[in-house]
Formats: sequence, C-alpha cells, structure tokens
Amino acid sequence: MSPPRKRKYIPNLAEFYFKPDFDWSIEEAQRLYNHVQTQIPNLNHKLDKIFYGDCLDLIPTIESSSIDIVIADPPFGLEFSGKERLYNRNADLVISDYKEISHSDYNSFSFNWITLLPRILKPSGSVYIFSGWTNLRSILNALSQTSLILRNHIIWEYNFAVFTKKKFATSHYHLLYLVKDERKAFFNRIQHYETDVWKIPRQYAPNIKKNGTKLPLELVRKCINYSSKPGDVVLDPFTGNATTQMAAKGEFRHFIGFEINHNLKKLIEENIKSVKPGEFYRPYKERIPDIEELKKKYPKAYKVYSKKELA
Ligand SMILES: C[S@@+](CC[C@H](N)C(=O)[O-])C[C@H]1O[C@@H](n2cnc3c(N)ncnc32)[C@H](O)[C@@H]1O
Repeated sequence: MSPPRKRKYIPNLAEFYFKPDFDWSIEEAQRLYNHVQTQIPNLNHKLDKIFYGDCLDLIPTIESSSIDIVIADPPFGLEFSGKERLYNRNADLVISDYKEISHSDYNSFSFNWITLLPRILKPSGSVYIFSGWTNLRSILNALSQTSLILRNHIIWEYNFAVFTKKKFATSHYHLLYLVKDERKAFFNRIQHYETDVWKIPRQYAPNIKKNGTKLPLELVRKCINYSSKPGDVVLDPFTGNATTQMAAKGEFRHFIGFEINHNLKKLIEENIKSVKPGEFYRPYKERIPDIEELKKKYPKAYKVYSKKELA
C-alpha cells in the first residue's frame, strides 16, 4: 500500500508551477543553429539540402550516430496514386509520379528502410513514424527486428475523414515514437500534461500545387519540439511536400531530406524557401499558458495558488 499523501491533492495546481525541462532564448537558439558544425564534427553530409533518389540507397551514405531525430511518413502501400478524389480536391493540382509501394512488397519495403535507422541515430536520438492502420502491422513487425525502443503509440486525430456508407469513417493516423537508448534519449517536456492523442486539424488547401499527401506543419513541429534542441539535425527519408523541412527550418533545426520523385523538386524548393530560419521559434516558457489563462481554466486551483504565491 502506498503511504498516505502528506499534502492534499489539488487538481491542476501543478500547471501553475510548470516549467519546460529545457529552454532557450531566441538568441541562444539562433546561436546553436549557426554553430551546427561544431556540434556534429563527423557530419560531412551537406545540411539543409534535399537529395533526390531512393532512401534505401541514400540512408547508408549518412555517417553513423549523426542524426538527432528521424521523421518518416512513408508511402501507404494502398496502391494510392496521389490523384484520388479525396476531400473534394482537384486532381490536376496534385503532382504526378507519386511513388507507391505495392501491398505485397510493403513488408519487405518497411523492413529495408526501418532497419537502416538505428546506425545513423545519435544515442540521444528519436524516431517518429506515421502509419495508417492498414499497414501498421508491417511497420511494427519491421521495428521489432531493430534495437529501437517504442516509447509511445500516438494517435493523430484529424478532420476531413473520407465519407463511408458501410463502415466508420477513418479519422486517425498512428504515430510511433521510438528512441535509440532509453536512458540517453532527449525529451523536452514542453507542456505540463500531454497525452498520446493529438487532435490537430489538416490544412485544407484546395488551390495550391501539392504532393499527394501533406501533414500539418503543427503536427511535425510538435514532434521536433519535444524531441530535439535548436541546432539539431532532422532527417526525413520521404520528403513529399517538405513539411518536415519547413518545420525544422522554422524551429531553428537543420535538416536532410530524401525524395524519389524528381517532379517534386520545384515545389520542395519553393516550400522550404518560403520559411525563414527560426520563423516559428519562441522560447518554450512563452508557449505554455500564462497565469491569466490558467486562472480562467482552473479557478479552484488558482485560489490555492494565489493564496500561497501571490499573498
Ligand atoms: C506520404 S508522402 C510524404 C508526405 C510528407 N510527409 C508531407 O507532409 O508532404 C511519401 C513520399 O515518399 C516518397 N517516396 C516513396 N518511396 C520513396 C523512397 N524509396 N525513397 C525516397 N522517397 C520515397 C514519395 O514520392 C512521396 O513523396
């Protein structure tokens, strides 16, 4: 039996005392971003560049223990052409040659790229892998054959679920969070209480050119902010529209990207150019709710807090 609690538990009071584990001012974050070469002397791969080719050939060219975080949103294995009339969209605005993997090849494809990851990760490194529910089994099977440690199975709940008549409309994606070494993994708790269900809207962009699928920037920024520091290196082996690279650049992180579809080059370069280094970056203490917001949300806990701290 656990010993009785000394002080009475006040729900939500801890929110008022919360500070992110690590934090950097804008100047500190910029300095770390500018001094990247001193942090990773063994990295001779050009940073902040996209390399066009098959990631199965390109991942082996990365130095061992040089990547801080991998964010991977692989093709679905659903015979998806990227041109399907999803969400009412105009297929002419979707760039051609979306590279799919056939259903029968999906197990071996997943095994081939996933088993390349542990070598390139730093001991403090993390991996985030997106997967639809239909091929989750292949991804989990491949992961079980690596030394990576599964830390969370996050559900991303999105809007614009495709209408179905004979079954429930799918409105979620799986996001697996893994680390190379549980003791050394970098994780910055930037909110007091964060669950493994993330409700983040999809961006509805009906009139712009895009690759078949596009993650919300906010979703990728969240992974980057929890699992890396300013100046760190993010790898995305399946670049698509360059959402990861835009998120990384805007949060003062560096990136390396791979993409097999050469038709995406113009779009990728434009998307990356549209973001300034550090454009999204704000010190983490400025991203948590302030006392006035907390007061509105948790009036009972505020009473206790103000009696103790503001008297
Ligand atoms: C699901 S999309 C990524 C979308 C991206 N996360 C975004 O938000 O825009 C997958 C991408 O991987 C690319 N791809 C497929 N197989 C690849 C491979 N073997 N190597 C590199 N890129 C590949 C596809 O051309 C496609 O652009």
